[in-house]
Amino acid sequence: MGRGPKLATGDDKRVQETLQGSGEIPRHIAIIMDGNGRWAKQHGMPRIAGHNEGVESVRDTVEACGQLGVQFLTLYAWSTENWKRPQEEVSLLMRLLLKALKDETDRLHTNNVRIKAIGDIAALPQDVQNELLEDIQKTNDNTGLTLTLALSYSGRWDLTQAIKHVAADLKAGKVSEADLNERLIAGYLSTAGTPDPDLLIRTSGEFRISNFLLWQLAYTEIYITKKYWPAFRRDELYDAIRDYQRRERRFGMVSEQVKQDNGRDGYFGRLIRSVTGP
Ligand code: FPP
Repeated sequence: MGRGPKLATGDDKRVQETLQGSGEIPRHIAIIMDGNGRWAKQHGMPRIAGHNEGVESVRDTVEACGQLGVQFLTLYAWSTENWKRPQEEVSLLMRLLLKALKDETDRLHTNNVRIKAIGDIAALPQDVQNELLEDIQKTNDNTGLTLTLALSYSGRWDLTQAIKHVAADLKAGKVSEADLNERLIAGYLSTAGTPDPDLLIRTSGEFRISNFLLWQLAYTEIYITKKYWPAFRRDELYDAIRDYQRRERRFGMVSEQVKQDNGRDGYFGRLIRSVTGP
């Protein structure tokens, strides 16, 4: 029997079917998971309790995305700047990440989820790196949702490593200056091969990109909710997708052009794909 996501049931299944029928399901959703600490404080608990509950939100969101047919989900789990937090929180979060990977990978694998990671993975503790690489290898041939964990990641880090590689390849004569264009640069980013996000969700009501996918978010629709990440569950995801379905994505064109020919294989469909990837 082929692998696939555990199917939605009851009311949830009906809500998902309505969403699938009412418009396009974003192919790639990226999420800035924010507000774990504030959620914990609000509930009179230590910060780590917020992170712990945040893992539940990750679990529910991943499952719902898989069921809806979202193809890529990218989660900003740990930024380059997060290393500056108190040592105790860094260490507890790394333990939590390791535990979550160990506990969840088998279920993700059964649900046909492919795990990927972007960021300066070498900066993570060795046991987290080992577990991550094992999980990536284990799920490498899965064909359902691609779950990318951004770990020790920042958009500026991504651009810097890409520029270093481009410079090295220019020096080695592997590429010439005439080859440099947006498509080539995108191929040097850690997200190479993944289409740009269609929808960015940020929790906890902040209006910032916080050094996330700086290049890749150029045409992404942004949805901000006041909910703290530990309180974000599939119903909030559905709200975000409903909001997305009401937007008109123009990619710098005028409304009439988009309406005139919005088909995937029409001129504008092709133009849009040349910006967002295949
Ligand atoms: C933001 O809240 C959250 C983080 C920096 C860490 C996110 C980590 C998890 C949800 C757990 C592990 C992840 C996976 C993928 C299993 P914050 O601490 O910045 O909250 P605050 O702004 O209220 O202080």
